[in-house]
Amino acid sequence: MARSGKVTVIGAGYYGSTTAQRLAEYDIFDEVVLTDVVDGKAEGLALDLNQSRPIEGFETTITGQTTGPDGEGYEAIAGSDIVVITAGLPRKPGMSRMDLIETNAKIMRAVAENVARHAPDAVVINVANPLDEMTALAQIVTGFDKSRIIGQAGMLDTARFTNNVAEKLGVPVSSVTTLTLGSHGDTMVPVPSACAVDGKPLTELLSADEIEELVTRTRNGGAEVVALLKTGSAYYAPSAAAARMAKAVAEDSGEVMPVCAWVDGEYGIAGVYLGVQAEIGREGIRKVVETDLTDSELAGLKEAAEAVRAKQADVKDL
Ligand code: LAC
Repeated sequence: MARSGKVTVIGAGYYGSTTAQRLAEYDIFDEVVLTDVVDGKAEGLALDLNQSRPIEGFETTITGQTTGPDGEGYEAIAGSDIVVITAGLPRKPGMSRMDLIETNAKIMRAVAENVARHAPDAVVINVANPLDEMTALAQIVTGFDKSRIIGQAGMLDTARFTNNVAEKLGVPVSSVTTLTLGSHGDTMVPVPSACAVDGKPLTELLSADEIEELVTRTRNGGAEVVALLKTGSAYYAPSAAAARMAKAVAEDSGEVMPVCAWVDGEYGIAGVYLGVQAEIGREGIRKVVETDLTDSELAGLKEAAEAVRAKQADVKDL
């Protein structure tokens, strides 16, 4: 199998390390670099992952690197084609993603400066919360083309919606199509009109109340996991989503995925990072793909855009 390229994951918490594991197990990259500020953590996890290679049967090598407060160690990410930023604090029970904005903005600033310095040609996939705001900040700090900065949220929220529908109806997840747009927060916009089971509209299979229940559970999907874990937040589904996005970039696949992307006129919305469907390729976002929405879904998307626009305007001063 031809392997090529280098992908970096910043932050070796559960989200980062499971993302690195998934990327390595795809066996499509020459190298996966994993970094963390905790001394030895990334190196230890990388060693452990490398030792799993003979068992899982992949050749991609994983490099661990501790980074320091003045950017020490970031040379390890040089030449990365893709950088996934997972650095930042997760929520505690009862917190909203927005409660993390000040702390995570400081972390994002430091990380993004080093990414711009050492991996100036990379496509950046941000997963740090609050997602839409930290994605905007990553763009401001790196100064990269807006199409080269993507946020991960829609893949995750859509997967949660699909899982909820599949569980409710007792059908395979593979038979279910769902969609969520908008923010990765209170103004998330699940799109029931785009949902189907084996091609049959969801609206013909469930009542409006039943769909609303699944929509609410989807919107609270992250908080539901946080409340159960009590410490830390979800990482299996989030890392699956981030890794698939990185794979789409690496393979220049042209897949259309729900992601946080810069919107510039689509849906009558402009000048904001927002959850939409977009075609993903080697340069990041090839284009935002508009979906048919009902009037109330479109109104929800516009409301989400204004809510995140206000917050994104604040973020540059954090
Ligand atoms: C979640 C976090 C990662 O939704 O935002 O689980």
